[in-house]
Amino acid sequence: MKKVYVSRAISDKGIELLRRQCDVRVQAADRPATREELLEGADWADGLLSMLCDKIDEEVLSAGGGLKAVANYAVGYDNIDLAAAGRLGVGVSNTPDVLTHATAEMAWALLFAVARQVVPSDRLMRSGRWQGWAPMEFVGCDVTGKTLGIIGAGRIGTAMGLMSSGFGMKVIYWNRSASPRLEEGVGAQRVELDQLIEESDFISLHLPLNDTSRHLIGKPQFEAMKPTSCLINTGRGALIDEAALVDALRKGKIAGAGLDVYEFEPAMSKGLADLDNVVITTHTGSATSGSRGDMAVMAAENLIAMLDGRAGAQCLNA
Ligand code: DGY
Repeated sequence: MKKVYVSRAISDKGIELLRRQCDVRVQAADRPATREELLEGADWADGLLSMLCDKIDEEVLSAGGGLKAVANYAVGYDNIDLAAAGRLGVGVSNTPDVLTHATAEMAWALLFAVARQVVPSDRLMRSGRWQGWAPMEFVGCDVTGKTLGIIGAGRIGTAMGLMSSGFGMKVIYWNRSASPRLEEGVGAQRVELDQLIEESDFISLHLPLNDTSRHLIGKPQFEAMKPTSCLINTGRGALIDEAALVDALRKGKIAGAGLDVYEFEPAMSKGLADLDNVVITTHTGSATSGSRGDMAVMAAENLIAMLDGRAGAQCLNA
């Protein structure tokens, strides 16, 4: 029987699938696996079901010499050293598609929360200090008719852009190739990054994190953005130079930001939490019951397929 280590409890649907065919150990504490637990699990197991916060580097991949496959419970896989996995003959998979709509919806949740000052308004209401309706209180930004700039038109960026159709927005996007779905769906226009940065009222980030996308948005980009613009990030925190973001928000270079991900997750940069013009959530982009259930099943199926020597549809390095 193949041995599988699951680094954090996931939906029973996925665990049951694994248990039908494998000897399964689950790290059940309500926190990420420690480095020691991860190394021990990888040493014991043939397959690892990992979380996006687990650093799967050469040491983990080669821990016992027997690891054959890693199924990441996420669409992003910047936590995994894919090159080392390739060298060591370890298959790696991710969970695309099943979280596309959930994550795109989260980007919209943040966009509206920032635009309409939902969080400070909620805070005032809870404080018991609200004096009643006021003409100048929590006056936000319009969304309808504004320009939405999408950076990265993969599955999630495309879904986010298509969801704008009800708001009559002008959609522009930056992507290495054209997106016929975005262009046909909402008349989106592919532009250069500089143009997108300068013209957008809302910018939403949907790129994978790698050496070229790290700090794609930093001081020069904040200088070029409209002072009324808002930045939304449901991708990976390090797409943004977070210290530069705090500075830009403080100085009013941009109007606000909605962040679900952080450069040094789970920590966030000093000063961010003191700002009223940011909405900060806890990397919950894929956190709907449907998506998380489907991710568990997909990750389990991928792991079983890779361990059986059938490269699953999602094997990234088959
Ligand atoms: C992913 O799957 O990469 C997302 O960040 C999860 O929320």
